[in-house]
Amino acid sequence: MPEQTAKSLKTDSTRTIDIKDYLGGLFGQEDEILLTIKKNAKAAKIPAIEVSSTVGKLLYCLARIQKPKRILEIGTLAGYSTVWLARALDQDGKIISLEIEPRHAAVAKKNIALAGFENQIEIREGRAQGLMDRMIQEKEGPFDLIFIDADKKNYPLYLERALQLSRAGTLILSDNLIPKEETFGSHLPGDLEANAIYQFNQEIALHPKLESVLTTTIVGKKGRIDALGISIVKSDR
Ligand code: SAH
Ligand code: DHB
Ligand code: MG
Repeated sequence: MPEQTAKSLKTDSTRTIDIKDYLGGLFGQEDEILLTIKKNAKAAKIPAIEVSSTVGKLLYCLARIQKPKRILEIGTLAGYSTVWLARALDQDGKIISLEIEPRHAAVAKKNIALAGFENQIEIREGRAQGLMDRMIQEKEGPFDLIFIDADKKNYPLYLERALQLSRAGTLILSDNLIPKEETFGSHLPGDLEANAIYQFNQEIALHPKLESVLTTTIVGKKGRIDALGISIVKSDR
């Protein structure tokens, strides 16, 4: 019986990887620029934790629907998701992307120039929390679309700030909303990442100012099931 379970799990993950490749090949086609962005990241030894090409395409499609003039991204890495989002912008649209690692920001800047978006994308270096606090103070909001994809343990803090940088109708997208634990729901009580993600999911599900849904995604070489959060900010009345 345990053998049977192991076998069916393995079979299932092979199927999941095949489906991920199928979806990526058909719907998440990457051009030379997107491939080079990932190549540059790899050459700089930046971890390959960018969104999958299918999620990149999903971000692009959601942004096409939203027609944002101003996007805020939290967690740039090498600029892969940033460029997917930028491709949905009009000429006068802008992205501000926050990144704590100077090394990541440097490669991202190079990648963004390569993609031809140096005039539309601004990367701000530092802790997203503090950078967002300053944006609130300086009244830099509201943004039309906010993509949360930085350190998971701070997701609840980012949500609180994202709401302050939103208007009625802002689209808040959040990556990686299923924690990594092998058995679902089996994280240790001290697992700060998993706790924060479950808390975040509760908040976007129950928040009086949000209408939310999670859509499952397939990430990484092992085809882990994950999810992207889609939240719409409601009007006050
Ligand atoms: N959005 C990217 C992936 C981001 S990975 C893509 O899909 O292409 C998460 C990034 O968040 C990393 O580059 C990491 O350095 C950054 N990060 C982690 N903690 C942060 C913080 N407190 N403030 C800002 N960025 C942070
Ligand atoms: C991982 C994936 C992500 O999309 C992310 O933002 C952070 C980490 C990962 O697979 O480790
Ligand atoms: Mg992510």
